Amino acid sequence: MKNVLITGGAGFIGSHLARLLLARGFKVRILDSLSPQIHGAVPTGLQWLSDPGIEFIRGSVTRRADVEQALDGAELLVHLAAETGTGQSMYQIARYNEVNSQGTALIFDVLANAGTRSLERVVLASSRSIYGEGAYQCTAPTCPSGGARQFPTSRLPAALAEHAWEPTCPHCGAPLRMLPTREDDRIQPASIYAATKYAQEDLVRIGCESLGLGHAILRLQNVYGEGQSLNNPYTGILSIFSTRVRRGLELTAFEDGLESRDFVHVSDVVQAMLLALTSESPANAAINVGSGVPTSVLEVASQLTIALGGTPAIRITGEYRVGDIRHNVADISRLRSILGYAPQVDLAEGLRRFCQWVLQQPLPEDQLGRANAELKARKLMG
Ligand SMILES: NC(=O)c1ccc[n+]([C@@H]2O[C@H](COP(=O)([O-])OP(=O)(O)OC[C@H]3O[C@@H](n4cnc5c(N)ncnc54)[C@H](O)[C@@H]3O)[C@@H](O)[C@H]2O)c1
Repeated sequence: MKNVLITGGAGFIGSHLARLLLARGFKVRILDSLSPQIHGAVPTGLQWLSDPGIEFIRGSVTRRADVEQALDGAELLVHLAAETGTGQSMYQIARYNEVNSQGTALIFDVLANAGTRSLERVVLASSRSIYGEGAYQCTAPTCPSGGARQFPTSRLPAALAEHAWEPTCPHCGAPLRMLPTREDDRIQPASIYAATKYAQEDLVRIGCESLGLGHAILRLQNVYGEGQSLNNPYTGILSIFSTRVRRGLELTAFEDGLESRDFVHVSDVVQAMLLALTSESPANAAINVGSGVPTSVLEVASQLTIALGGTPAIRITGEYRVGDIRHNVADISRLRSILGYAPQVDLAEGLRRFCQWVLQQPLPEDQLGRANAELKARKLMG
């Protein structure tokens, strides 16, 4: 079986993928810096890394020697290592660029300059954030757009301050209706995080084409599930909410709570990654990986609270974060047609599994106030 390198393999998605690949007989090597923001100052819960089938390298995608060591002999690469907080990326710009963009560039720099190379295929975990607001349509009968697909630009702070949450039609001003976003829709990142994920895509696509490697770019939607970081206050709405429910604190929803996301369970994501690694010919394409179902923040907060055995208490704050999108749902036709995969775990089942796991974990500190204060201090939250 082939040697697979997973960068960021000690993280949430990587840990699920590593175990799936091990079970399928692959040899797994992980390069991970064990970032304290994700794993805590003293990393815990990583005993699984000592499995004899895993070679673990503690190192960074930003250090050439670590990348050279990790790539040596690897036949397949799944590139997951990244900084992942959308809000945080808006003020830690150099750090996000260094890890996400420059880290990916370094991988290809090493590959391009290696004398011999074993690598055959690269799978990148990209993000739906690169679409910005994504696809919409105006349904007003008199609108000159005639119902054509539209791609509104990111909402301006001035509009958000007026609580004008929904993107509006540039032709007639009516509120737009969200459509499932397709891979060939307009790319318009609205955050530094998104910009770095799109930079990763270009580096992987161009780098693989020039080196004669196969690739697959998986645009992940909101991934959730057992094992997601409960320490990182900058990302993971279900982690943040679950800690607050367990602490008896009210849940707070930005905007009017009706903003929506496409929640996809991690087990479906790693199945898609396995298929992208093992398909007879490489996809050489970008593929959305989501559930194809939109869920509002209010709805997910309510379902999560109930699954944790509580009674929903959700306060709509009317606050907003610069860089957040309003709605999102993926068109998953390519996931079905290219990878032959249909998501298996619906939100109710996924939340049941997630909550069962959460309730066995030590109770983390609630850090939401700190993360929001950092944004407010920089006028990135209103
Ligand atoms: N979880 C989601 O909802 C989601 C959605 C879209 C895209 N993605 C992408 O999927 C990938 C994995 O996300 P995740 O949710 O598992 O995140 P995670 O934070 O749980 O895992 C990321 C891992 O990368 C490691 N890492 C960070 N900086 C590193 C560096 N410089 N060198 C080596 N390792 C480093 C961290 O220690 C961590 O173990 C990321 O690229 C992310 O952008 C995730």
